[in-house]
Amino acid sequence: MSSFLVKQAQQRLKGEITLLGDKSIACRSIILSAVSQGKTVIENFPFSEDCLYAIKVFQKLGIRITQDLRNKIANLSYQLKNPSHQYPDVKTITVFGKGLYGLKKPKGPIFVGDSGTTLRLALGVLAGHNFAVTLNAGKSLSRRPMLRVTAPLRQMGAIIKAKINSSATLKVDGECNRTINPSKLEEYPPIIIKGGRLKPIAYKMPVASAQVKSAVILAGLYVRGSTCVIEPVKTRDHTERMLKLFRADIKVNRNAIFIKGDKELVSPGRVFIPGDISSASFFIVLAAILPHAQILIKDVNLNSSRTGIIKVLKRMGANIRVTHQATGTRSFEPMGDLVVKSSKLKGAIITKKEIPSLIDELPILMVAACFAQGKSIFEGVGELRLKETDRIKSISDNLIKMGADIKVIKTLELEKIIIQGGKRLKGASVRSFADHRTAMSMVVAGLLAQGKTKIDDIACINKSFPNFLTLLKELVY
Ligand code: S3P
Repeated sequence: MSSFLVKQAQQRLKGEITLLGDKSIACRSIILSAVSQGKTVIENFPFSEDCLYAIKVFQKLGIRITQDLRNKIANLSYQLKNPSHQYPDVKTITVFGKGLYGLKKPKGPIFVGDSGTTLRLALGVLAGHNFAVTLNAGKSLSRRPMLRVTAPLRQMGAIIKAKINSSATLKVDGECNRTINPSKLEEYPPIIIKGGRLKPIAYKMPVASAQVKSAVILAGLYVRGSTCVIEPVKTRDHTERMLKLFRADIKVNRNAIFIKGDKELVSPGRVFIPGDISSASFFIVLAAILPHAQILIKDVNLNSSRTGIIKVLKRMGANIRVTHQATGTRSFEPMGDLVVKSSKLKGAIITKKEIPSLIDELPILMVAACFAQGKSIFEGVGELRLKETDRIKSISDNLIKMGADIKVIKTLELEKIIIQGGKRLKGASVRSFADHRTAMSMVVAGLLAQGKTKIDDIACINKSFPNFLTLLKELVY
């Protein structure tokens, strides 16, 4: 356990940062590079725990993935110049693709860590391979629901066994236990999958989830014929975009995606991963609320399926300007620089339809709502209970301890959070619940609240943003 003490920021937030590559795009880049023909050089690859697991999993499946020698030298000289910095941010890796059917049966079970994206998307490509693999997960991922992915993949013809109604999820685990209905069948890792010849399906997704959508689309690569996935609400479309880059036969018509399979993917040779907007969100909120702040965040992914945080914060009155927006120059994803200055925030209503575009930013938006004048309402947030921890509970418990006015209302149709902003927050002893986004949101809340805040364990931050504190120290002075 590495506890962490945060004091209210007395200094200005000023300066310029560049973030590690986006976690969602990076995981997809490993998967598509692995099952395409040719070599792919991936630039700005984030060396966060989840993305390292994506590399390890595909190495175990017989794919050669190397770190660029030039990169190693650059990192070494960076380290010599900046001995206090643990994570230099220039990262390039090379993946030697083996083609669509080129994955090899691993020697034993594969451990995917706590990377939900790696696990759920890997299941999609493994559904097309004619061998059995056991996928084991870490503590938090072993408690997250998998039936949403295993059900459509079974419909397509994959043979899948998973743990049913994990007893671990039914035990009381600290204060942040999920409420699981034991009468409802659910599946959890470990998962054993044996793929093979798949059949096309038209799949109407019951939940808005980019991971589920991507798993079915990736399995569709192995189908002779056309697979269709229909989303209830549009979710992040990184898989669709990257598949186009790798010359897949994919078409998107509003909420429906059509993929024709049994066709080799071709590597574009090089993929640049733009900066992670989810990582940017912590700095955006901090700069919007702290007085006299002005920061520049360079090369951020500005895919509209991810920019909900910017839209909502602007509606709340935040001073955010996008500069140097570029599409298709360095990356196949839109990206640009963000300039964020201090502002006075007011409450806002966040609708159910907007949730997928900011699902991972809800914790930090809840912090922002506490510092805004007036009421904020977050509608249709139920999926937030199914992340690394139950984030409705982890964030509201912590913020209430700090003096926030938060109510959670659950009706038959939807769950909503109501935050009455403008109360003075005071430092307290809070918990990360071993969840990276809860931990980082609490660091930001601690910088904004009066007095001192103690967070029980922040090692979990490495899951997505290993240089978070380093960058924070660079900006606060
Ligand atoms: C992700 C999709 C989202 C998000 C997760 C990453 C992805 O999950 O919360 O952090 O890379 O596709 P869901 O698909 O479960 O909504």
